[in-house]
Amino acid sequence: MQIMLNTILPFFAIINNFTMTLLFLYYIFPTVLLLALIRKYRESKWGKCNNNIQLDGKTVIITGANSGIGFEVAKELASRKASVILACRTLTKAKETCVTIQQNIKEAVLVPMELDLASLKSIKKFSDEIKKNYKEIHILINNAGVSYPSSTRLETADNFEIHFGVNYLGHFYLTNLLLDELNISSGKSRVVVVASSLHERGEINLDNLNNEKLTSKNLYANSKLANIYFTQELARRTKDKNINVYACCPGWVYTGLFRYTIRWYHFFVVAPVAFFFMRSSGQGAQTPIYCATEPKLENETGLLYRDCKLYDSKAIFYDSISTKLWVKTEEMIKDALKVK
Ligand SMILES: NC(=O)c1ccc[n+]([C@@H]2O[C@H](COP(=O)([O-])OP(=O)(O)OC[C@H]3O[C@@H](n4cnc5c(N)ncnc54)[C@H](OP(=O)(O)O)[C@@H]3O)[C@@H](O)[C@H]2O)c1
Ligand SMILES: *[C@@H]1O[C@H](CO)[C@@H](O)[C@H](O)[C@H]1NC(C)=O
Ligand SMILES: *[C@@H]1O[C@H](CO)[C@@H](O)[C@H](O)[C@H]1NC(C)=O
Repeated sequence: MQIMLNTILPFFAIINNFTMTLLFLYYIFPTVLLLALIRKYRESKWGKCNNNIQLDGKTVIITGANSGIGFEVAKELASRKASVILACRTLTKAKETCVTIQQNIKEAVLVPMELDLASLKSIKKFSDEIKKNYKEIHILINNAGVSYPSSTRLETADNFEIHFGVNYLGHFYLTNLLLDELNISSGKSRVVVVASSLHERGEINLDNLNNEKLTSKNLYANSKLANIYFTQELARRTKDKNINVYACCPGWVYTGLFRYTIRWYHFFVVAPVAFFFMRSSGQGAQTPIYCATEPKLENETGLLYRDCKLYDSKAIFYDSISTKLWVKTEEMIKDALKVK
């Protein structure tokens, strides 16, 4: 028995080696190559911000700058010599992020600040501090965002549904408080609203903005649609000011955004698709950076961009909704401030 095995095993080893080589040459290698080429092709479609505009003397605020897309935008704008204010949910995170960026970019000018968009009080405090220390804000990037399952209704400190409250209303309040600082004395300031093409699945129900009736299926998408209406209406309302407004979709990006909604099986179902469609944070940051810096956009306002170019949304927008949404949001904020 032993002798038999000793003569047969090397034989199998040779076959094994031979088939492995064949397998590699004819299947594995071409497959890997093909997948890599498809990925490269996809990446080439995502667009890259190619300008090298420097931002010396400019002040930038980025909300949610401690992770994902916001972090990459902060790093890039700091490397272009802007003073970057990192407006984060906690001061600790803002400070830690400044240290991380400074390690890579020695000459970066970074200011860590606390801004909890789930609290009107925190937003007011933040804007008061900004007004005290800065005369002009050249770029405001409304980037922070949350995504939770729509099955449970979570609330901000002021009892707004959390997607509506953080992604949309908090930034609405913040931007309006900073309008004087954004109306800069030369050129145009830029407000960049990080929205999402998921807005196409959203709805604005003016009688149920705060989702009290618990009827809405995709609260995240609703908030992103509200982001775009906000962009359009703000652009109209700032026509006589030195302010341009841009909405953008970063694409589908590998960040922590979906940490509350993802399930273990998604990794199996989504992984193959993700390989072709999911961007790194650095890639996802390209369109926001483009909107913040690109000279070609200097005469544009109120539009939506993706892949570093204009994006043709499948959604239909109604001017009547954007005006009503604006007025209603103002009332909701006023009422919430009265309660406190
Ligand atoms: N990832 C995508 O595929 C994708 C696609 C389309 C659009 N977007 C949009 O891109 C933006 C950035 O998201 P991301 O993908 O980079 O996700 P992320 O890594 O989770 O970043 C979100 C940021 O928002 C901050 N944030 C959350 N709640 C906040 C609050 N109450 N106050 C202040 N900051 C708060 C987070 O702070 P903490 O770290 O403290 O939680 C974090 O810094 C979001 O607006 C998102 O909707 C993302
Ligand atoms: C905006 O700034 C310009 C230039 O400084 C000024 O002339 C104008 O009055 C300001 N507009 C508003 C509405 O504040
Ligand atoms: C923007 O408008 C100004 C004034 O009309 C013009 O001089 C400039 O070339 C325009 N810029 C772009 C990129 O179209």
